[in-house]
Amino acid sequence: MDIEEVVSDYVSLKRKGQNLWACCPFHDEKTPSFSVAPHKGIYKCFGCGKAGDSISFVQEHDGLSYMEAIRWLANKYGIEVEEAERTDEQIEQQNERDSLYIIMGFARDYFQRLLQENEQGRSIGMSYFKERGFTEKTIEKFELGYSLDQWDALTKEAINKAYSEDLLEKAGLLVRKEGGKKYDRFRGRVIFPIHNVSGKVVAFGARTLKKDDKPKYLNSPETEVYHKSKVLYGLYQARQAIRQQDNCYLVEGYTDVISLHQSDIENVVASSGTSLTADQVKLISRFSQNITVLFDGDTAGVKASLRGIDMILQEGMNVRVVMFPAGEDPDSYSRKIGTSAFQQYLRDHLQDFITFKLNLFAEDASRDPLKKAESIKEVISSIAVIPDPVKRAVYLKESSKLLEMDESVLLAELNKLLIERKQKQTKPRQHREETDTTQAAVALERDAEPFDQRGIIAIQERESIRLLLNYGHNELEDNYKLYQYLLEELSEVEFTDPLYKEIFEIFKKEHDNGNTIDSQYFIHHGSGEVKQAVIDLTSVRREVSPIWTDKYQIHVPHEQDTLDHTVYQNITRLKRNIIQKLIDENMENLKNVTDPVEMDRLFDIQKRLKASEMELSKILGIVISR
Ligand code: CTP
Ligand code: MN
Repeated sequence: MDIEEVVSDYVSLKRKGQNLWACCPFHDEKTPSFSVAPHKGIYKCFGCGKAGDSISFVQEHDGLSYMEAIRWLANKYGIEVEEAERTDEQIEQQNERDSLYIIMGFARDYFQRLLQENEQGRSIGMSYFKERGFTEKTIEKFELGYSLDQWDALTKEAINKAYSEDLLEKAGLLVRKEGGKKYDRFRGRVIFPIHNVSGKVVAFGARTLKKDDKPKYLNSPETEVYHKSKVLYGLYQARQAIRQQDNCYLVEGYTDVISLHQSDIENVVASSGTSLTADQVKLISRFSQNITVLFDGDTAGVKASLRGIDMILQEGMNVRVVMFPAGEDPDSYSRKIGTSAFQQYLRDHLQDFITFKLNLFAEDASRDPLKKAESIKEVISSIAVIPDPVKRAVYLKESSKLLEMDESVLLAELNKLLIERKQKQTKPRQHREETDTTQAAVALERDAEPFDQRGIIAIQERESIRLLLNYGHNELEDNYKLYQYLLEELSEVEFTDPLYKEIFEIFKKEHDNGNTIDSQYFIHHGSGEVKQAVIDLTSVRREVSPIWTDKYQIHVPHEQDTLDHTVYQNITRLKRNIIQKLIDENMENLKNVTDPVEMDRLFDIQKRLKASEMELSKILGIVISR
């Protein structure tokens, strides 16, 4: 798939030399450092370092899995993908989904056309949007439309175009009653299409234009392609901005999303009036770990939606909150005070969730000590759902300051909740608490024979440097040299051996200055010790005598022939040794810890280190057995 074609759907590329350039879609920048190399089929951002091919671009940009990205590209560019054996039923289902996407796209086009060109559409629908202050550009961007005030306008048009009534009904566009009566679901309403992350229309929200008409908004029912709890309004239009700003504003309604766009705030999605679901939070987390909830200014409503905040915390994400004055929602308020004042308001009224919760209960609490206890409980119960113990500790400190209460009192309350929760979680497994298994692992670890990790690490460091000095300028792939690989892989590794550390750092420094050196440089410029080490490392190893290979016709591979394999294995071993050292150190800390929060934290670290170790071992296992 042509990388240029794929990427240019998302950003506008400008040619400069061999490559194409644009402002990076993955981070916020004003001057382009994102480049596409069409002949190599890759992209790379020199600002944030993101790089890859067409598939990884789509994956990254739209938050898709590998297979989803392939399917999406295949579909878009009309390429057949062979899927692993699918049952007839699965194929049938895929076909049905495809038909639904097609008819929803057709309906979107139809509603859009009515709004733009039809007399009723223009005089009623369009003037409504204009009255609300929506610009042409916005109407276009959100693909807004209008449905005629007739019983069967859409159905007629669809049948004309050879769509079946069954399909219309499955898509939720046609309602069929038992007595055989049937009619268009959306009539005489303005239309807000709802897109999935890849931009396909999966549902419609339709607003009435009459004052007391109920319901105000009529929405598509659940269908094969629309699961309300897994879709967020505006995400398709917001995804790039969410990643770039590394924050997502969460609002309630369609018009809030649209008005914020008009205030130049594009990183915004709506839960569409329903309460936030875990799936929706996960969807946002593909793009950023930070959510800012914008609340309408009425306290009763806010208290009712506190569950939403816990939901976000529970998914491990960071929550902040902005409250609006009573009676205002983001839509009305942004129009009332204008773009720049609105943006300023958001900055000035940003609260972390603890302050927010405390303020929410503050008024009651100042009058009534019992109420104060309640508000403390509220805050602690939110902290308790945060999965990361380090974050919990930070928030606990913060709360202790804000509440002017001793941290130990709050900690006791928190631990009570944590224990309750753990017991609930582990009940079905009986007799086996989560911590027990971890402790068993720790005990096992203690018995393992101790050996010198430092020495082993130094051996791998030596090997990395040897490869760098001898083969740094060899190509591992087209235009990709071994030293580039080492610089990338070792960028976060702190060498333990001072000599190898020095050599690596000189190499890196020179490279950063645009001067890629080799062993000769060290031999001429290095200190005595460095020079000696470099000579030692670059002296030719004893090779197998050519007479042998000729005589017996055996191929003895040169080290150069398998460089990629050698260097990959070296790096993986080095990383694994470093991880093992960290595991040992963490073990030592675990032996001495008494504070339960700290203990929790160390267990967590241990678990993660163990996982990395396992992963690296697995890679080495595969490499070795090859
Ligand atoms: N909503 C809905 N069905 C309703 C009412 C509301 O689906 N009967 C959803 C819509 O997504 C709506 C959101 O809940 O955008 C918030 O509802 P509300 O605040 O009542 O509407 P607004 O977005 O403020 O719409 P408007 O400004 O047009 O009145
Ligand atoms: Mn409103």
